[in-house]
Amino acid sequence: MYTGLQHLHSYLTYLVLLGLIISFLAALAGLFGSRLFTDKDRKLSLLGLIPVHLQWVVGIILYFVSPRGFSNFSGEAMGDSVSRLYILEHPLTMIIAVILITIGYSRAKRMQGTNAGFKSIAIFYGIGLALILLRIPWNAWPGN
Ligand code: HEM
Repeated sequence: MYTGLQHLHSYLTYLVLLGLIISFLAALAGLFGSRLFTDKDRKLSLLGLIPVHLQWVVGIILYFVSPRGFSNFSGEAMGDSVSRLYILEHPLTMIIAVILITIGYSRAKRMQGTNAGFKSIAIFYGIGLALILLRIPWNAWPGN
């Protein structure tokens, strides 16, 4: 089960990044093109939201199954930068990113028919994407 989840978490990362980049660029195009945020645009922004939500659920399960997650929690492990990344920094940063992306989507959903919907997606998805990129374990992903 551990190996399967580890692979799933690794492959889902491609979808997460792709979905967020597409949604983010589409939002920038809408924002600067002075278009109105429609239901079609809302559906496009789901490309960024859905993989992130799936990844979040898989990540939480993985945290309690992986030897690098919760079971590795100790004062000694916190003193090691790679161990600390998996125990604390990666999960916490990703959870904050997921919350921001969800807020961006929910706000935009209520702003249909205005240009501000694009602004909400661009800002919240943009910050979420930056946080994800900052705390992906680049030492291990995408692997060899
Ligand atoms: C958008 C959200 C997330 C992304 C993009 C992401 C991405 C990644 C990537 C790329 C890896 C390295 C995979 C590999 O070794 O090939 C990883 C590992 C890991 N992630 Fe996440 N993650 C996310 C959310 C989370 C969350 C919310 C948690 C826990 C609460 C979590 C826990 C872990 C753990 C424990 C590992 C180490 C697994 C192992 O190799 O044993 N992740 N993550």
